[in-house]
Amino acid sequence: MSKRYTITAALPYTNGPIHIGHLAGVYVPADIYARYLRMRGKEVLFICGSDEHGVAISMKAKKEGITPKEVIDKYHNIIKKSFDDFGISFNYYGRTSSDVHRETAQEFFKTMHANDCFETQTTEQLYDAKENQFLADRYVVGTCPKCGHPEAYGDQCENCGSSLNATDLIDPKSALSGETPSLKTTTHWYLPLDRYEDFLRSWILESHKSDWKTNVLGQVKSWIEDGLKPRAVTRDLSWGIPVPVAGGENKVLYVWFDAPIGYISATKEWATQEGADWKPYWQDKNTELVHFIGKDNIVFHCIIFPSVLKAMGNYILPENVPANEFLNLEGQKLSTSKNWAVWLHEYLEDFPEKQDVLRYVLTANAPETKDNDFTWNDFQTRNNSELVAIFGNFINRVMVLMKKHYEGVVPPPNSLTKTDEATQKKLAAAPTEIAQLIEQYKFRAASQEMMQLARLGNKYLADEEPWKLIKTDPDRVATIMHTALQVAAGLAIVSEPFLPHTAQKLRKMLKLNEALGWDNVSALHLIESGHQLGEAGLLFEKIEDDAIAVQLEKLSS
Ligand code: 2FM
Ligand code: ZN
Repeated sequence: MSKRYTITAALPYTNGPIHIGHLAGVYVPADIYARYLRMRGKEVLFICGSDEHGVAISMKAKKEGITPKEVIDKYHNIIKKSFDDFGISFNYYGRTSSDVHRETAQEFFKTMHANDCFETQTTEQLYDAKENQFLADRYVVGTCPKCGHPEAYGDQCENCGSSLNATDLIDPKSALSGETPSLKTTTHWYLPLDRYEDFLRSWILESHKSDWKTNVLGQVKSWIEDGLKPRAVTRDLSWGIPVPVAGGENKVLYVWFDAPIGYISATKEWATQEGADWKPYWQDKNTELVHFIGKDNIVFHCIIFPSVLKAMGNYILPENVPANEFLNLEGQKLSTSKNWAVWLHEYLEDFPEKQDVLRYVLTANAPETKDNDFTWNDFQTRNNSELVAIFGNFINRVMVLMKKHYEGVVPPPNSLTKTDEATQKKLAAAPTEIAQLIEQYKFRAASQEMMQLARLGNKYLADEEPWKLIKTDPDRVATIMHTALQVAAGLAIVSEPFLPHTAQKLRKMLKLNEALGWDNVSALHLIESGHQLGEAGLLFEKIEDDAIAVQLEKLSS
């Protein structure tokens, strides 16, 4: 039986819009994977949603003088629209403020509580007497005990990536009042991660040692070797999901306990909408679960959430967690608070209809194995020298020549030369080569293999020069155009995961039979003689220096 896939993409916090770093790190690779698998006829459920709890949201509300609910409603809509605009093909985009999610997360907590999967600990925690509030996570700032970074948060140091407890920080200060916090006693539920060490070691470090990315394995190994400790799954806060057991009054679930359960609640909501059963997507051994995330989310998706799923007993575990590293912008770390970012909704105002250009640049330069840099100059070069000069130029030449010499009706081929045969052979091999790379989560290399097909077509026409032969050898030109059209059609198909808007336009221009897909490319007969092409249009256009200067100016202002 063919496998079913549940693909998740990290739920973005609704405390601001999303930027190119989000797209490059998580959503574009996840979308390429989901689209590709659908094209291979697999059953795919691609899930995401807004992460609407946690301190990030309450801090934003406080800063803007509005309620957390107002914050999440505003950014949920902006983020959802950006995903739609960029063609991120989720089957369902949920939100963790939904009733279904609250019930699901509480059910997880109650079940685990009833099965003695938690421990309670009464400890002294940081407390802001002025604000009358316990401080954890992003409510505390101080010096990282691991690397000395002076602006580490109470849950994580963004400089060295260490995951921290608020009480680990040196010289902690309340992010609310700026005061030095005092210590106050409180009781919380903890997930004893130490109980899962053997399971995690054998499941990840042994069973997945050769198919998970080295950056992911490295982090997991270092977590395990540091010794897994119990981790609090509740907080003394008002914004969040109420703790559903006795003693939980005035406490909420830790956002990282509820957020990944959001994948499951979103699946339930999707299933209700579709009249389907949610369970196979999370509980059937024939389902492959893949989490797309950024590197700061590795511990939550490889250690904590799998321990929760294991504790629940009847859930599948992720088959892979292809986490990406970070994308920088013009040599500096992307930062929401410092407004050092390219916001997706603003990009589309300046470059309307150029979603695929950004998708392509972010894929070609994806931070797959190390942090990478996005520069506006590279964006311009990739657009002008690759999308316009290779892909666009090839298609444009095909369409113009076909119109001029054949009224857009595909001519039958005559005898093939060695070059024609070699071109056909490369076309036939392309889908398998691209597929192999996508299946290994090497989207960067896969996008280059796709571009290689455009390059093949472009070079074929440049070498064969049909425009010169039309008067002297029209039979030869018919063969060239027939062959070039097969390449164009192949490109319309294999480019879809990377450039969905372009692929659709190209399919329309070629009037490609809708039934033709990935598995038909190798057979080579995508467009038959006598087929009438549609209207030509421009796929890509040159980006001029002044448009780039505007972007650089915007960043420095
Ligand atoms: O890091 C983040 O932006 C988190 N909101 C990701 C959550 S992923 C999942 F677990 F919900
Ligand atoms: Zn640090």
